[in-house]
Amino acid sequence: MKHLTDKTKEFVESATIEDRIHSCRNSKWIGYTQASKIMNKLEELLVYPKTVRMPNILLVGDSNNGKTAILDKFKQKNLSYVDEDIRVISPVVLVQAPPEPDERRFYNAILEVLYAPYRTSEKLDSRYLRVKKLLLNLKTKVLIIDEIHHVLAGSPSKQRKFLNVIKHLSNDLQICLVCAGTKLAFNAIQSDQQLANRFDPRILPRWNNDIELKRLLVSFEALLPLKEESLLIEPSMSNKILSLSDGLIGEIAKILELSSIEAIKSGKEKITKEILNSIDYISPEDRKKKFIS
Ligand SMILES: Nc1ncnc2c1ncn2[C@@H]1O[C@H](COP(=O)(O)OP(=O)(O)OP(=O)(O)O)[C@@H](O)[C@H]1O
Ligand SMILES: [Mg+2]
Repeated sequence: MKHLTDKTKEFVESATIEDRIHSCRNSKWIGYTQASKIMNKLEELLVYPKTVRMPNILLVGDSNNGKTAILDKFKQKNLSYVDEDIRVISPVVLVQAPPEPDERRFYNAILEVLYAPYRTSEKLDSRYLRVKKLLLNLKTKVLIIDEIHHVLAGSPSKQRKFLNVIKHLSNDLQICLVCAGTKLAFNAIQSDQQLANRFDPRILPRWNNDIELKRLLVSFEALLPLKEESLLIEPSMSNKILSLSDGLIGEIAKILELSSIEAIKSGKEKITKEILNSIDYISPEDRKKKFIS
């Protein structure tokens, strides 16, 4: 089982079929080139000295293409801890933007992840000041706002209002902001000169048929608990996976999850073209067609 990592090999050797099927469903982390570059960039923010103009990052990519996975990994690597003065330190705070551009709910989202209760009657200013104070006390270096496109949707005036909220946060808190969202967020931030200057955009492009895809497939194969080598990098296999997935890592992961479960159940122990053709999977392209027709 040379195709597996040592850890996966050990697992395959001792696990039951049910355990192996379960493990196919567990999400995996692969530090592909662009993800590693972005992780390094995020790590740099942690040691950035306080200045009047802190660097911010805007992580942009289509839905299901790995934005949250990177942010979660970064958060996991930098969990809260208790310092020598017995104070809780949270270098990284990760929040989801609320589903609509509502400033109050936005601060609530931050207060909630900080386990800070709020009253519905609490004034906006007071909420903001508490957010600021809490982040200061927790010595937060990076505030991550995922799904930022939600708060940048809506009418142009609502959009502008929220762009100002972000600008204010960025200027006032003296911490680094990392916002993640779809192209909509990118366009909204680009439309504001000041924000465009403050946010360094990092793009997660869709996957193409190139060396990076091959690397990704090799990495996936090393983590899938199958006894035989599938050779996913063979052009006929990689082409099939890419075309089914529409170039999205989330779809690639799903296809490989379903295929490896089938490979275990059928006793084939490797992903074959037949398995790729037989899995109960509808590509994003076909899902759209089904919805339209
Ligand atoms: N680095 C990675 N290694 C392995 N699998 C990954 C990686 N990144 C993403 N995936 C897979 O892709 C799926 C979708 O990724 P993620 O949730 O990060 O997408 P997203 O860009 O945040 O999408 P959305 O905009 O819809 O929130 C994950 O559930 C996981 O299965
Ligand atoms: Mg996400």
